[in-house]
Amino acid sequence: MKQTEFARRRKRLMQMMGKASVAVLPAARVAMRNRDADYPYRQDSDFHYLTGFDEPEAVAVLIPGRPHGEYILFCRERDPLMETWHGRRAGLEGAREHYGADDAFPIGDIDDILPGLLESCERVYYAMGVDDAFDAQVTGWIRRLKEQARAGVHTPSEFVALDHLLHDMRLYKSRSEITAMRRAARISAQAHVRAMQVCRPGMMEYEIEAEFLYHFKRHGCVPAYGSIVGGGENACILHYTENDAELRDGELLLIDAGAEHDYYAADITRTFPINGRFSAEQAALYQVVLDAQKAAIARVKPGAHWNEPHEAAVKVLTRGLLKLGLLKGQLRALIKQEAYRGFYMHRTGHWLGMDVHDVGDYKVGNAWRELEPGMVLTIEPGLYIAPGARVGKRKVAKKWQGIGIRIEDDVLVTRDGCEVLTRDVPKEIADIEALMAEADHHK
Ligand code: GLY
Ligand code: MN
Ligand code: MN
Repeated sequence: MKQTEFARRRKRLMQMMGKASVAVLPAARVAMRNRDADYPYRQDSDFHYLTGFDEPEAVAVLIPGRPHGEYILFCRERDPLMETWHGRRAGLEGAREHYGADDAFPIGDIDDILPGLLESCERVYYAMGVDDAFDAQVTGWIRRLKEQARAGVHTPSEFVALDHLLHDMRLYKSRSEITAMRRAARISAQAHVRAMQVCRPGMMEYEIEAEFLYHFKRHGCVPAYGSIVGGGENACILHYTENDAELRDGELLLIDAGAEHDYYAADITRTFPINGRFSAEQAALYQVVLDAQKAAIARVKPGAHWNEPHEAAVKVLTRGLLKLGLLKGQLRALIKQEAYRGFYMHRTGHWLGMDVHDVGDYKVGNAWRELEPGMVLTIEPGLYIAPGARVGKRKVAKKWQGIGIRIEDDVLVTRDGCEVLTRDVPKEIADIEALMAEADHHK
């Protein structure tokens, strides 16, 4: 992402904040894994969105209209010894030169400097309740100002949720954000195709996961979330991440994996037969999910409300379950009673962006939000018939048990409909079987 993009975002946010206000955002903290080993550092999405600055121990401050500069970055100073051990730092000069800060100060001086910056403002934009230690620090700055009230020091009178403005901005993807998301989608799609090609009975789930990690890393990406690679009945565990079981002949494999490229996520699920051929029952259930997914995608267009794709998916899924004898009764009554929930317990999608479950409101007041061009969402219906599944007192026929299916694509709302960013992975039964048969030839 170019520096001009970050500058444009800061400018827009400051326009919305207006004069006499200040925004304060902390960088993500380093998380300890064990002893001296950290978790891989990932900058906070909001912080990165406005700064492009990838280091920990930093605080960004935006003060619209401040004569001495609107954008102030507190960060770590250069330190040859620390950099020898832990890696390069931009330093104060780098913050100004490469990251567009009007002013930069050492993070260690923030308690001395920040109260003075707050003093001239009425409104503080800040995401409360995310980081307890930072909340306490902000409260401390305010207390310091209040204590000096008799000396004529002014204290801001309003605290405003920064997330409100920022997350609405993040919901509408710019041209360069869409470019990044297309790339994340393409790399992820290639990995899913590869998984279909290499899969065979007797492999372990983690061997398939390794294909994803290898492909993502080769393209400079990291997984956007913990990959789910679930063979057979493991597919019925929605957040299965052990990925340590053997893949068995005759069962399906559900893979939910996506890459994060330059801070933007893809989120793809495919389900395919481990031996390359769907059984009759697997194919029947799969087709219901696929039809539901297509019906839901068909509802993604400007003006449709958030829940329309979900409603479309639920209708097709319920009708399919009825036809296959998994549910009994009247279609409309079953939908109303949410009879499908034993087999379909999650919703049909979520916003997608820098976070896999991205920010942005799903409702405006009491009404579902309308879709608009530039929004990106997932469409991911599924059916999960767990071993021993029941409908009321009735046991589900054995032949369906242990089948879990989800099909998930990433969809961009366009001016006249939508574009499926992850369309490069086959999802039609015939296409998956053809791809796997072709790969079998070469094994
Ligand atoms: N991978 C998480 C999800 O599909 O929402
Ligand atoms: Mn998803
Ligand atoms: Mn997913």
